[in-house]
Amino acid sequence: MAYEHLLITKESGYALIQFNRPDVLNALNIKLMTELVDALEELDKETEVRCIILTGNEKAFAAGADIKEMANTSAMEMLQRDQFARWDRIRKIKKPLIAAVSGFALGGGCELMMTCDLVIASETAKIGQPEINIGVMPGAGGTQRLTRAVGKVKAMEMVLTGRPISAQEALQWGLVNKVVPVEYYLQEAKELAKEIASKAPMAVKLAKESVLKAFDTTIEGGLEFERKNFYLLFSSEDQKEGMKAFIEKRKPEWKGK
Ligand code: CAA
Repeated sequence: MAYEHLLITKESGYALIQFNRPDVLNALNIKLMTELVDALEELDKETEVRCIILTGNEKAFAAGADIKEMANTSAMEMLQRDQFARWDRIRKIKKPLIAAVSGFALGGGCELMMTCDLVIASETAKIGQPEINIGVMPGAGGTQRLTRAVGKVKAMEMVLTGRPISAQEALQWGLVNKVVPVEYYLQEAKELAKEIASKAPMAVKLAKESVLKAFDTTIEGGLEFERKNFYLLFSSEDQKEGMKAFIEKRKPEWKGK
């Protein structure tokens, strides 16, 4: 399928989605977001794709929702098209999502980054929620995901001042997994994708689901959910193969079932 604002490539075990609106620092307009959700849902169905990388370019992961598109929208129009509801579908993607971030990850760009499961950042990344500077506030999960990730006072600082943080700060605050020089951030994300793609697919899927469950349940509910998923994996061929291979001191051959 051809997309106007996305470039998609597939490599062994993973797919790479690159936002392609460089003239506007990959501002996330409705078209791009519609394409992104469609592409993610398609790739989520493809068995040979085990992991998905989202990236922009060196200058910008994404500088936020498209302000020019939004500027004259009425509250009722927003409510009617429930623009950000589309983002909920990203949360439902089963395969691990890796954000490879360089340059600006602002507003919706930061929110999209936080919707991903893992984040590799370049040293040049500037991450923030600057909506307060244009008279609004985060609207695609920023107040919720940022607060869960970095805690109340840091989230307040970012949301109320709009000041971006550096890649190193994001690393210290637990917003990104790793920071590397700009020449390597995409390569590093690809290595991570390859590593995850080499694991048993059903285990990866249920493990992701279980970690995400921690965000919207009690500890008791979460432990119960985790235990059921753990038991469930014992009905997979890959559990038999993984444990047999360990005992036989050889590499497992996954079937994905
Ligand atoms: N929407 C639309 N266009 C954008 C944009 C955005 N979010 N961010 C940048 N652009 C456009 C600029 O208008 C400019 O286009 P023109 O050449 O046609 O003027 C082009 O991208 C390059 O931008 P700048 O000239 O501003 O580049 P810079 O290097 O001087 O500054 C920047 C970079 C600091 C990121 C600055 O562009 C900026 O502040 N952008 C807006 C960031 C922002 O406020 N994001 C939040 C959006 S609201 C949101 O995301 C809501 C939500 O929760 C979902």
